Amino acid sequence: MMDRASALRRIEQLRSQIEHHNLRYYQLDDPEISDAEYDRLLQELIEIESSYPDIDVSDSPTHRVGAPPLEKFEPFRHRMPMLSLANAFSEEEILDFHARTKKFLGATDEITYVTEPKMDGVAVSLVYEKGLLTAGATRGDGSVGENVTENIRTISSIPIRMKKHSGATVPEVVEIRGEVFMDTEGFKRLNRRRIAQGETPFANPRNAAAGSLRQLDSKVTARRPLRMYCYGIGLQSGATFHTHWEILESLSLWGFCVNPLARKAGNIDLCIEYYHEIQKLREDLPYEIDGIVIKVDDLALQERLGAVSRNPRWALACKFQATQATTTIEDIVVQVGRTGVLTPVAIMTPVQIGGVTVSRATLHNQDEIDKKGIRIGDRVVIQRAGDVIPEVVKVITANRDGRERSFSMPATCPECSAEVVRLEGEAAHRCIGLACPAQIREHIKHFASRGGMDIDGLGEKLVAQLVEKGLIGDPADLYYLKREDLLSLERLAEKSADNLLSSLERSKSPPQEKLLFALGIRHVGEHIARVLASAFPSLESLMQASRAEILSLRDIGPEVAGSITRFFHEPANLKVIEKLRQAGVQPQIYAPPQSLPLSGKSFVFTGTLSGMARSEAKQIVESLGGQVSASLTKTTDYLVAGTEAGSKLRKATDQDVEILDEEKFLALIGSKRVL
Ligand code: IVH
Repeated sequence: MMDRASALRRIEQLRSQIEHHNLRYYQLDDPEISDAEYDRLLQELIEIESSYPDIDVSDSPTHRVGAPPLEKFEPFRHRMPMLSLANAFSEEEILDFHARTKKFLGATDEITYVTEPKMDGVAVSLVYEKGLLTAGATRGDGSVGENVTENIRTISSIPIRMKKHSGATVPEVVEIRGEVFMDTEGFKRLNRRRIAQGETPFANPRNAAAGSLRQLDSKVTARRPLRMYCYGIGLQSGATFHTHWEILESLSLWGFCVNPLARKAGNIDLCIEYYHEIQKLREDLPYEIDGIVIKVDDLALQERLGAVSRNPRWALACKFQATQATTTIEDIVVQVGRTGVLTPVAIMTPVQIGGVTVSRATLHNQDEIDKKGIRIGDRVVIQRAGDVIPEVVKVITANRDGRERSFSMPATCPECSAEVVRLEGEAAHRCIGLACPAQIREHIKHFASRGGMDIDGLGEKLVAQLVEKGLIGDPADLYYLKREDLLSLERLAEKSADNLLSSLERSKSPPQEKLLFALGIRHVGEHIARVLASAFPSLESLMQASRAEILSLRDIGPEVAGSITRFFHEPANLKVIEKLRQAGVQPQIYAPPQSLPLSGKSFVFTGTLSGMARSEAKQIVESLGGQVSASLTKTTDYLVAGTEAGSKLRKATDQDVEILDEEKFLALIGSKRVL
């Protein structure tokens, strides 16, 4: 056994390595090491920690990977109630608030305010005792919420132990208040994954955050890219504060994330300026907000102001006008997905929202239509937030004239006339037709997609034609297509036919994980495909694996394991796999991602580069292992600023992100580039 000092050193090392890999894996969905390597690190840490039981493990990552599933959430009583906020929607209402506040206080002096973005997520309260996270709960009715401690522990931006700092006393007990949210990138990535796995996508980032935080199985939450910005405290004992700003500063020093856009604004005019400034920034922010919050800074004044009903008199939510519009639902059509799920889609009179013309909105499923009472012909309010899919907010029932028609899901599939069923416990209706052309089309599109076999030149229309003509009925048929088959299609030039044939040829030796993803096994997205490929070097070994063997892998639960074994027991699937093999499709053995010079580094571009196109710069960064994102986040390492850089440059300066001009960027990639 190693001596105590070496054990402590190694524990430190392992903890920080594991935290790093957790971030890559869970939050960025871009691991740098294989799952087996990760498991070795974790196992080593568990072993050392258990041989020194006196070493404190309460804030170790061995405690972050998720606990066994719960039956239900326990109620959790907040020590100090979680209040809500009065709303304002205009400058006048902000000025009214200020006038009310001054009058109440009989104040003649200026009042100093702090301003913060109003995050659109889920309010939570965290309890720390002697600096250690002991509980986390949702707001609930303000007095009693749900105990979601195990889920809270999996969010890597929430410290398990508060940091000690000379500038901020750690209270004996403290309730930390803030908002758990999912940033837009993480939300989109999660939805892409859900769609690829045949699951229903979340309607917006707030729903995704709420749904993820309220998972009974914390291992599921651990995989969701949740973050938290803290904005206040509830009950506390042992520390003294005079201003709200001091509280925000202490939160940062204790290791919590505080929105970097929070500002000690000053007087009310500066608050109004802030309101307009943030409204302009809104579309560029990497997360969703629905306004700003203005708070009286002086805590003694807050105390005097108190609360009326559930709203403190010392704070105000200043909401932005939602990007909403009204339009008419002209029709509801039904789309059939790869797994046979029928999705109702509203076809609307085109309308502009926030500069974009919108004419379609998903209605999710029949329950959602019934809940909102939507009928064909209805006038509806729709909204669009950021880049999120537009949604129907509500029906304007006063506009009805009796000609509206209610909608119900068809009893037979609109594409193949097979029976439509609704399985127990599912919101979705499914077409059970094995030969449903819509399912076949979607299946083949998925097979050929970038994350799958990556077959260039096989667009949506071409797939539809091939299926319609009966030239293909499953993905393997693609590899038996002949030049003359392709040339028999309408409007397909010889060159395109040849290109497609050569990309089909090229796709015959895909990485093992891509083939697994391409097969479209329910619940097997890109990540699970990687987990499987790293554990089973060949397709044959996976096909022979037992459910228990699959279940023993990291991140694979009973439902996923069941779906995989069922897939490989289905004779029709085995036939397709055999046909693929006969055609010469031979996956490469899984190679764990290697560490490249820019691995783990994330870049954002702004402005125009003079020496190369942005797409080219992006390619170079990616080829060196770096990641390129559209917007700045906490994890951005470099902002590459060309000429005419926009608001991102200002933001990067505020956030202390390293800024590279074109010359420095070239020097960096030049030094890392392997020629
Ligand atoms: S302060 C007593 N600050 O807005 C004050 N709330 O409508 C309590 N929210 O339930 C809240 N960002 O979930 C505050 N910077 C911020 C906020 C914020 C979002 C949410 C919070 C609260 C709701 C009130």
